[in-house]
Amino acid sequence: MKKYNVGVVGIGVVGTEMVRLLLRRNFPIKSLKILAKHQRIETIDGQDYPVEVTTGASFEGMDFAFFAGTEGDKGASKEFGMAAAMGGCTVIDNGDDYRMESWVPLVIPEINPGVIGQYPGLIANPNCSTIIALMALAPLYSKNKIRRIIASTYQAVSGTGAKAVSELAQQTKSWSRTEEVSSSVYPHQILFNVIPAVGSFVDHNGESTEEIKMRREIHKILGDYSIRISNTCVRVPVLNAHSISLNVEFENPIFPQEARKILHGAPGVRVVDDVMADQYPMPINASGIEDVLVGRIRKDQSVENGLALWCSGDNIWKGAALNAIQIAEYLIKRR
Ligand SMILES: NC(=O)c1ccc[n+]([C@@H]2O[C@H](COP(=O)([O-])OP(=O)(O)OC[C@H]3O[C@@H](n4cnc5c(N)ncnc54)[C@H](OP(=O)(O)O)[C@@H]3O)[C@@H](O)[C@H]2O)c1
Repeated sequence: MKKYNVGVVGIGVVGTEMVRLLLRRNFPIKSLKILAKHQRIETIDGQDYPVEVTTGASFEGMDFAFFAGTEGDKGASKEFGMAAAMGGCTVIDNGDDYRMESWVPLVIPEINPGVIGQYPGLIANPNCSTIIALMALAPLYSKNKIRRIIASTYQAVSGTGAKAVSELAQQTKSWSRTEEVSSSVYPHQILFNVIPAVGSFVDHNGESTEEIKMRREIHKILGDYSIRISNTCVRVPVLNAHSISLNVEFENPIFPQEARKILHGAPGVRVVDDVMADQYPMPINASGIEDVLVGRIRKDQSVENGLALWCSGDNIWKGAALNAIQIAEYLIKRR
């Protein structure tokens, strides 16, 4: 089997899981280069990895570059992503710098791999909440068009990064020692609280950047801009794995049993739906697994052809690192 020169750019929460998953999935690696802003040695599962400072030359001879760096003008994708792709490397970007560009395929391999052109340059990984919601919704959409979605997210602190995970852990320690609980990553205490603000509020229309991203990305991936979407993104005191409540209105009647059957056959989805036995998706069970869990599938009585569901998925795995690696695996298979 052909082996590839692979780069991981950024070795924070997502980059670290990227390295773990590349090894766990036996990705055909010829060489692995870890790039970041600062040079150092990173230890992952007892193995030391040299981390090099990213430069334009870092991508010479590289076949796949998984970008897991900070977003924005000073971030790795903006600085190096396009040039690396132009130089012949296939770039798979976790951030949102290029997701909405019309020439950039926004891909969930189980759903729309066909949008990747013959000569892949830069491919974008969708936002974690978009991926987790669509893993449940797209198989249903392919059988019965969706008219309207109401989505409420319950997003883990790992989605903010390593500092937020430490903040929740520290607040828990402080509270248990009856010490003062302080916050620096979030504007409010996250322990014993929920914060209905994920991302930022830029244009004062009341929507958060996370809500806008999720809405636009669902339209782009399904290729259906007629779907009406209302969503509220909420940070909750969960360490890892996002959950989403979905109320969906379909064009034609759909019954919970039929939806369960469709989702049972969907790749990357595991139906956990036996309320009488207390079985439903929970972030604690979705963390550290590859499938997205879907359950609480029931009729939404408030509209005609309505269905209510609940899903939980690992935001760092399927919501980021795993999805990116699956895109590369798809390309290797296609070759
Ligand atoms: N966390 C999630 O749930 C999640 C889900 C989906 C997508 N994403 C996206 O994935 C990306 C990574 O997220 P994260 O949570 O892993 O971030 P993070 O923990 O903050 O790590 C960011 C990494 O990027 C590196 N970096 C920053 N600027 C750079 C530059 N100009 N050149 C090279 N490297 C640079 C940093 O290097 P140093 O370590 O040397 O400073 C660091 O290793 C972001 O775009 C994020 O939006 C995250």
